[in-house]
Amino acid sequence: MKDLIPDELRKVLRNAQHIVVLTGAGTSAESGVPTFREAQTGLWAQYDPQELATPQAFRRNPKLVWEWYIWRRELVTNAEPNPGHFALAEMEKLLPKFTLITQNVDGLHQRAGSLTPIELHGNIMQTKCFEDGETVTEWAETGEVPPRCPRCGGLLRPDVVWFGESLPFMALNQAIRAARQCDVFLSVGTSALVQPAASLPVEAMQAKAVTVEVNPQATPLTQYMDFVLARPSGTALPELLKQVWGIELS
Ligand code: APR
Repeated sequence: MKDLIPDELRKVLRNAQHIVVLTGAGTSAESGVPTFREAQTGLWAQYDPQELATPQAFRRNPKLVWEWYIWRRELVTNAEPNPGHFALAEMEKLLPKFTLITQNVDGLHQRAGSLTPIELHGNIMQTKCFEDGETVTEWAETGEVPPRCPRCGGLLRPDVVWFGESLPFMALNQAIRAARQCDVFLSVGTSALVQPAASLPVEAMQAKAVTVEVNPQATPLTQYMDFVLARPSGTALPELLKQVWGIELS
């Protein structure tokens, strides 16, 4: 494994002042949370996301959508952060400036110790009112599915971004600003297919940051990356920590 991190990349990372990391579903794959595009385990294979992860689907069948998210919440609750998540939480402490941007809604970065991940697509463990969009932390369990907002009586929904919905404005702005200011940008475990997240690595390239992709498969961005670590993030990120900063995960 000693040659996984090229010398030039080690030098760049050691001298970095601001590292930005964008993570996608691949980062949680080794925690047993299926990615969206892996045929054999990805959620695409089991469900038509248009049936479940859109406001139209919720209006059409709120009970089905709510129950799918209850199932996914259980899946995520039973999952554990993997060494890739822990390595990112360690890396955060080593840099003058470190920005973690995630497309994942599973909250595993926080459970691994990352302090302030930018959650572009929301967080599956949070709930909000479908009518007024405000977060709801507790509600009366009347047996009705989905439950209702204690403020306005609207239906409750998971606080995640559905297909066709816009991303949280502040989160996206913060992410774009970080991508434009950083000197190193790591794209980890994302197929780089879904906008606007997929344009963040491009923002970094245009701002002359050094770009690194960590993904066992090629993506549309691979050919433009300065460095490509074609390994699972659960292996590559701890190796980065060890070979660049001499830190072994406990
Ligand atoms: N380590 C690193 N990358 C991995 C691993 C792993 N162990 N396993 C799979 N991958 C890669 C796959 O090769 C793929 O490129 O992770 C990527 C997962 O891609 P997607 O399933 O498309 O997930 P993501 O890129 O996060 O999708 C973006 O699209 O489906 C919507 O809102 C959803 O947030 C999601 C967004």
